[in-house]
Amino acid sequence: MVKRIKRIGVFDSGFGGLHVLRFIVTALPGYEYVYLGDTARAPYGDRPQETIYAYTKQAIDFLFKQNCGIVVIACNTASSEALRAIQQEYGAEKKVLGVLIPAAEEAVRKTKNNRVGIIATTSTVASKKFPRELFKLDASIKTFQQACPLLVPLIEAGEQNSPEMVTILKRYLAPLLAKNIDTLILGCTHYGIVEKKIRAVVGPDITIVSEARVVPKKLKQYFEKHTEIETTLCVKPMVHFFSTDRTDKFQTLGSKFFGRPIKVERAVLK
Ligand code: DGL
Repeated sequence: MVKRIKRIGVFDSGFGGLHVLRFIVTALPGYEYVYLGDTARAPYGDRPQETIYAYTKQAIDFLFKQNCGIVVIACNTASSEALRAIQQEYGAEKKVLGVLIPAAEEAVRKTKNNRVGIIATTSTVASKKFPRELFKLDASIKTFQQACPLLVPLIEAGEQNSPEMVTILKRYLAPLLAKNIDTLILGCTHYGIVEKKIRAVVGPDITIVSEARVVPKKLKQYFEKHTEIETTLCVKPMVHFFSTDRTDKFQTLGSKFFGRPIKVERAVLK
């Protein structure tokens, strides 16, 4: 009989992935998780592809050394710029999943007028991964992207409720609204944290695709299908948190994003 000893790894460049993890743990509470935020080097969103790949590789190596049987890259920037190469490198043995495809699939299911907006970091937008995935799923879909470089620094600084946030959101979302989109993908871990503010700007009629809702569902389906992985997972409800930067800051802000107090250990990536 296979022993249930493996953990589920969740990686993000910083704090935003904690919001996604919170929803994953709510949907799949019975497992043991390891979260890594590379806060010392975040944000990744305006770094070049080679750097994002190198950082992400180190992070994923760290998580597999933490006895993870599967790793979810919650970071859109890392999923856009590094996931494919990392999946090829690790092969079938070490399973690494991203967040882009589940979000794109959900948008295709939801759009009625086939006009989908995407907000994301500068690197994710430049990679054109979302438009490509959407096109692969349905070539009739028109996509409109908007890079939002100011959102992550504001959220990481704990300024998500500031008046500046609303002003900036209005500025970023106006060009997409002008394109008559009916579906908006929040293509960045952090944006789910300000979803209510985004909703207030876009109004009630636009479908918002949030990875915090989509990814847990997808992971559940994945485990139902891939019992060879699920049956290796430790059934001990527990989450270990690691940060590459100061753990005190991570503990304070991270507890807000995760929704309950967390204890954080320092990770050194090589
Ligand atoms: N986690 C990143 C993402 O989802 C946002 C933060 C960053 O730029 O590192 O794209």
